Amino acid sequence: MIHHDDEPANAGTEETMSRRNFLRRAGLGLGAVAVLGSGVLSYRAYDQGVLATGEGPAYAPWSDWRDGGGMRQLIGAATLAPSPHNAQAWLFGLHARHIDVFADLARTTGAIDPFLRELHVGLGAAIENLVLEARSLGLVPDVELVPFGSRSNHVARVVLTPGTRRPSDLRAQIPRRHTNRYAYVVDKDVPTAALARMGELVDPTVPEVSIVWVDRARQRAELGELLVDATEAIVADEAQSASDYRWFRQSWDEIQRRRDGITVDAAGVSDLTSSLAKILPAQSQRATGESWLTSTRDKHTRTAAAYGIVVARDATDVRQQLEGGRLLQRIHLWTTGQDLALHHMNQITERADREIQLGSAPRFGDAFTRFVPSGWQPLCTFRCGFPTEQPKLSPRRAVEEVIAR
Ligand SMILES: Cc1cc2nc3c(=O)[nH]c(=O)nc-3n(C[C@H](O)[C@H](O)[C@H](O)COP(=O)(O)O)c2cc1C
Repeated sequence: MIHHDDEPANAGTEETMSRRNFLRRAGLGLGAVAVLGSGVLSYRAYDQGVLATGEGPAYAPWSDWRDGGGMRQLIGAATLAPSPHNAQAWLFGLHARHIDVFADLARTTGAIDPFLRELHVGLGAAIENLVLEARSLGLVPDVELVPFGSRSNHVARVVLTPGTRRPSDLRAQIPRRHTNRYAYVVDKDVPTAALARMGELVDPTVPEVSIVWVDRARQRAELGELLVDATEAIVADEAQSASDYRWFRQSWDEIQRRRDGITVDAAGVSDLTSSLAKILPAQSQRATGESWLTSTRDKHTRTAAAYGIVVARDATDVRQQLEGGRLLQRIHLWTTGQDLALHHMNQITERADREIQLGSAPRFGDAFTRFVPSGWQPLCTFRCGFPTEQPKLSPRRAVEEVIAR
């Protein structure tokens, strides 16, 4: 990973200038930065954007995603979707009456997702945002998935014809939805009625994809233990751990330049911890893995009120992966509207796929049989609950950067 301190002296001049402007605009001049300390420490706080959380071009899409209107606005909505490691492995072909969606295979997460299951789930989430936005603008979207077969990276064509406006509650949540990695309220279950309502978001025209809930205390604890074990196995696997670390962005300049990846702000730690993490030198791969394992054990699994598992008849089928991503996104948008929190946690399937890749015994591959009814396979997993904190924004690339040329 490139760290800011390793870069040439002239790198990021434009970002440095704009960061100063943000501080000024926020009424926080250099004087305010000085209260953080003096000398090197205050400079580092300033340089690492400690006072500029969620600011700068990398975060602008959360407020200006509609700029350009029309078809560009649909792509703007799509780019606010979640994606594995925030890799945003999408490209869009913009045409007069249709939008093509492509997988950007230069943006995979390597050994974490060797068969591109998660990459396709993320693309499905982006397609769902695009569809919801189209309907709200009075366009009727006709979605054809894998139009040239599943070996092509052309994953969808969405043809748009004029119709009546169909704004929806789900669409309204698109710019409000974020992955919440904080602790959730302990001993506050997700109401059964809410789980049932989310079950109704399954598309009856797609019978190959569904949702399974793990909400009873004992099963929840069992799944939590498996998640911790799978995290431990990922951290111990040099290739998976390195693939994971590659998407961590620890310097302000890198976040503003790349506009992707996982940041300290989005990690679900306290404001004090995240300020210190930004000021201190970049965390090593090993330390990053260890803190992830600790959070998974002591925070994420301990406070999960329910787990959801999106299941498919054939979890290796690209079309079902895309449809699973669409369902996952509808659920995430719905929870956002109810002020519920959601956190994607895919360590078990990441390990299961890695076992297949390595030809090793299916320890995690078989683990889901306890939770998923026979005839179904797990596609992706998340925890859900009542938030203790509001999640922070993750960076996003601009629409111009994701239009296929
Ligand atoms: C298919 C898929 C798998 C994901 N897996 C994980 C995961 O295992 N752990 C995690 O913390 N976040 C996971 N995420 C969440 C992404 O990291 C997140 O969407 C991304 O960083 C952007 O942040 P946002 O959702 O707040 O916009 C996943 C997202 C998707 C779509």
